[in-house]
Amino acid sequence: MSNIGSYDERIKNFSWAIAEQELDYKPGNVINIGWYCSDRICQMGKADKLGLIWEGQGGVEKKYTYNDIRIATNTIGQFLRDLGIKPEDRVCLFMDKIPELYLGFLGILKTGAIAQPLFSAFGDESLFIRLENAQTRAVITQKKHAPKVRKIIEKMPWLEYLIIVDQDPAKPLQQREVALNLEELPKVEKFEIHPTYAESPSVLHYTSGTTGQPKGVKHVHYSLISQYLTSKWVLDLQDDDIYWCTADPGWVTGTSYGIIGAFSNGVTQCVMDSGFSAENWYRFIEKHRITMWYSAPTAIRSLMKAGDEVIKKFDLSCLRHLASVGEPLNSEAVIWSEKVFGKPFLDTYWQTETGSIMISNYPGMKIKPGSMGKPFPGITATVIDADKFEPFGETGKIGLIAIKPGWPSMMRMYWNNEETYKNKFKNGWYLPGDRSSIDNEGYFWFVGRDDDVINTGGHLVSPFEVESALLEHPAVAESAVVAKPDFVNMEVVKAFVTLKPGFVGSKDLDLDIMNFVRKKLSPLAMPQEIEFIDSLPKTRSGKIMRRILHAKEWGEEIGDTSTLEND
Ligand code: PRX
Repeated sequence: MSNIGSYDERIKNFSWAIAEQELDYKPGNVINIGWYCSDRICQMGKADKLGLIWEGQGGVEKKYTYNDIRIATNTIGQFLRDLGIKPEDRVCLFMDKIPELYLGFLGILKTGAIAQPLFSAFGDESLFIRLENAQTRAVITQKKHAPKVRKIIEKMPWLEYLIIVDQDPAKPLQQREVALNLEELPKVEKFEIHPTYAESPSVLHYTSGTTGQPKGVKHVHYSLISQYLTSKWVLDLQDDDIYWCTADPGWVTGTSYGIIGAFSNGVTQCVMDSGFSAENWYRFIEKHRITMWYSAPTAIRSLMKAGDEVIKKFDLSCLRHLASVGEPLNSEAVIWSEKVFGKPFLDTYWQTETGSIMISNYPGMKIKPGSMGKPFPGITATVIDADKFEPFGETGKIGLIAIKPGWPSMMRMYWNNEETYKNKFKNGWYLPGDRSSIDNEGYFWFVGRDDDVINTGGHLVSPFEVESALLEHPAVAESAVVAKPDFVNMEVVKAFVTLKPGFVGSKDLDLDIMNFVRKKLSPLAMPQEIEFIDSLPKTRSGKIMRRILHAKEWGEEIGDTSTLEND
């Protein structure tokens, strides 16, 4: 029996108070995600239950019971408090998927500070922009990533501490650097958790838009209510589940469902911190007897590409329930997973700003492969006309996805950017910036984004950020960045570049520019292709028309070019 039971019944009788009661939370009381994900699970009699099984490179393993998690997060909390970290200070986690990332996240929340996770593959420029915007007080990192912070530390007077979790004791620390070796610190059995309330800030995740710098999405401790219940009803987390969320906590899936949803439901979760290969992933599932697997379309398509033969080498009969998020899950992938695993991947739709699953397929509900499913109980979602911002009177029309604000995990603000935040709301609706249609049975069918943001392998990349980085390269005069179709990643970054006088396009220059962007921003943002052209299509007012270049890449009609400068 699934946790949700009947979707139709749940919608009829829904109230977020269901989650509040299950969590013994009363409005107005203290609510701290760090406590709910560790101390409370221990109090419920699961102190000796395994909470985290971690596997790193070369198969090294570490295991933590809920009591270990409770103590480790207390210890990190105490360490931060002793350094002088105060409630609402921003503390950045800049690490691979090592245990300290998961434990550090909860430790930060226990102090009342705000956790700011950043993807460890970010280059110094990506890092600087986000640390500057948040005026981050401390960064927790590994020694292998510390050089990227050191490179920019002089530009960051607000950053007081660079905390290194695997510092070699024989090596001297530089100014502002501190070592945090969890295994050697005295274990803190009792820690006074900061009394955070529903609206106290908890997490700051950065997400990219079409224009301007990345936006810091502010979440609060009350988000737990949504994250707990969606984990229970969509991911169907049950007491004896062994759960694997493949997402990195540098991105929202890795925190909302890779930390908060999993631990607040008290399940055992596995984390794999080694590279992707079909064999490695199937081995991991078999070895740990994974029952619930939450992944992403790009990974699923890569597995499809690896073929069905490799699957036969493993016993994957442990898998009970599969779900996916981040990009459109094509119907072929759903049908394939049913064939090879005996279960379909259930598509779930949401975003950094929504904090939790908004539209989804549910255990027990009829699945239409290729559809994102229906709104989560308590979520009022529809599709609206892009001009009038009103719902269509009929089904089947393509419009903007619109959600009625007010669910617990909704972002509370873009950090220091109230105007952009306000622009996300129209006519009483929150607009995630995606287009969809709804069929006559209420199923949502994703159509595409409503902006120029590139979704590569489930990661959003801003063309503006890549164009800005390109302009810093000595050979580049102008650039325009668009998405290009790709079987596995759905979209990859493509750059059109005009060169400064004296430079000539060549294979070497191509590689040099790609590497330049990779180091500054990240491997995700690196253009997979650079096309050198003589001039970029522009409007008469001089604005680059990405739309034309995009249409060319996708073999689409170019549309209205009446404003084009050189037509
Ligand atoms: O465009 C939608 C796409 O990913 C965007 C959100 O990205 P991000 O904030 O990084 O969060 C990713 C993980 C929650 C959305 O606005 N997206 C997400 N899920 C789906 C999707 N597109 C199609 N189908 C989905 N299931």
